[in-house]
Amino acid sequence: MSLINTLALWLTKGRRNGAVSGNHTFEDRAPSPSRESTPRSISATSSSFPRFRATAGDQLGSLAESAYARTRMKLLESFTPAQPVSDRRRFAGRLDTLTAIIRAIEEQRLHVVVYGERGLGKTSVMHVLTQAARDARYLVIYVSCGADSNFDEVFRTVAAHIPMLFHGAVGPTSPDVEKGKTLADTLPKSPISPRVASDILAKIVGTRVVVVLDEFDRSASDAFRQNVAELIKNLSDRLVRVQLVIAGVAGNLTELLEHIPSIQRNIFALQVPWMSAAEIHQLIHNGGTLAGLTFDKDAGDAIVFAAHGSPYLATLLCHHAGLSALDKTRTRVNKSDVLASIGIAVLEFQGRIPARVRTLIKTYVDQQKMPYLGMVAGASLLSNGAFRKVDLLESTVSSNIPGPLEDVLAELIKAELLVETTVKDARLYRFSEDGIAPYLWLLSRESALRDAISPQPSATPRLSFSQEKIQS
Ligand SMILES: Nc1ncnc2c1ncn2[C@@H]1O[C@H](COP(=O)(O)OP(=O)(O)O)[C@@H](O)[C@H]1O
Ligand SMILES: [Mg+2]
Repeated sequence: MSLINTLALWLTKGRRNGAVSGNHTFEDRAPSPSRESTPRSISATSSSFPRFRATAGDQLGSLAESAYARTRMKLLESFTPAQPVSDRRRFAGRLDTLTAIIRAIEEQRLHVVVYGERGLGKTSVMHVLTQAARDARYLVIYVSCGADSNFDEVFRTVAAHIPMLFHGAVGPTSPDVEKGKTLADTLPKSPISPRVASDILAKIVGTRVVVVLDEFDRSASDAFRQNVAELIKNLSDRLVRVQLVIAGVAGNLTELLEHIPSIQRNIFALQVPWMSAAEIHQLIHNGGTLAGLTFDKDAGDAIVFAAHGSPYLATLLCHHAGLSALDKTRTRVNKSDVLASIGIAVLEFQGRIPARVRTLIKTYVDQQKMPYLGMVAGASLLSNGAFRKVDLLESTVSSNIPGPLEDVLAELIKAELLVETTVKDARLYRFSEDGIAPYLWLLSRESALRDAISPQPSATPRLSFSQEKIQS
């Protein structure tokens, strides 16, 4: 039957059904046997055709008013891989990090620089820190920097959030305070320099101000970083009641703030660590409890195994594993849901890497090189991108790098997937594209977990990446 005939039959039959019942929805109509045998892509019934499950106002559709649909909605709010956490009930671990930052701000009156890889949870830490500081009556101004951030614009934004009430030379009953004016109203029209900014901030009395500059690495402007460094110096020299907390992606501190030598004494720098296994378990438990889902023990272990200490990967896998369970009308998430979630995540990462790289990786997978590729990817992730050969030893039981691993390393360099550089006499390796390491890592976790469920005879020795480093 041609597509047009099938469609005509389908429509007339639908209309007839509708005329009889009056209230019937499209989904009430069972597909005819002939339609069932038609390929899915041609005659998707309205129940199988992709659709939104809830309205934009978060109202569940009449078809979806089941406990599972409500759990699904909660799940989407409980594991948000694309958004940072700001709800303390969801925030897992990081107590040492938060304590250290709070001490530096409160006891040492230092400025703080928080750095680490993308997805490690810096913005989430900034959100929770902001709440804690606000609870202590600090005036906190949160700025998310962009590629075109410049000092003048950022400082004007900050000043616009500081009420005139805190200006030392202005009385509490002054008309400026009553009119709701801010320090931004006192700024000159000309571009603001760090000197002018610190002069204005020095006038603050009656409160303490914390300025969070998140995503600092996004700014492409050297002048912006230089000016912020200079502002930190000026503020520290004058004991001003304003402290900066800077967060950004960087392998090391100098990468984030090039002009750091001049202000080293005035800042507390902290690299956000990878999460421990216990912290990842807590993340799973927190989100699961809020969503009304239970993760089986081995499902939780599999997520810890695959997340590699990354709260981003853990959240992504929990999100997909939860959906996989709910699709099967379960609120218990099991290991097979986690395997399915890794498969989906692999596809997501695959879409972010060039076709040439994908083809090469497929060849390596066919050649059974996955365990070694996983080790290289694991070393890269744990070393924030640039790793040394000795970092590969973490994944082996021997004190020498096994021959096949050396071969894979050489092959990756030859294929220009890995770039070799020498920094201060140390030989470093880095993947040529950002997405390669997490992609390879998840692929290797997927095959290791599948192997664990149904072992395949393989010529390649089973070597698994040590979890010790992230469990400590
Ligand atoms: N402490 C945490 N508890 C629970 N989830 C977290 C935590 N830290 C980060 N996440 C999750 O990890 C992902 C990345 O977090 P984010 O704060 O945006 O990282 P970064 O700013 O370092 O890129 C987000 O999905 C967030 O929900
Ligand atoms: Mg961030």
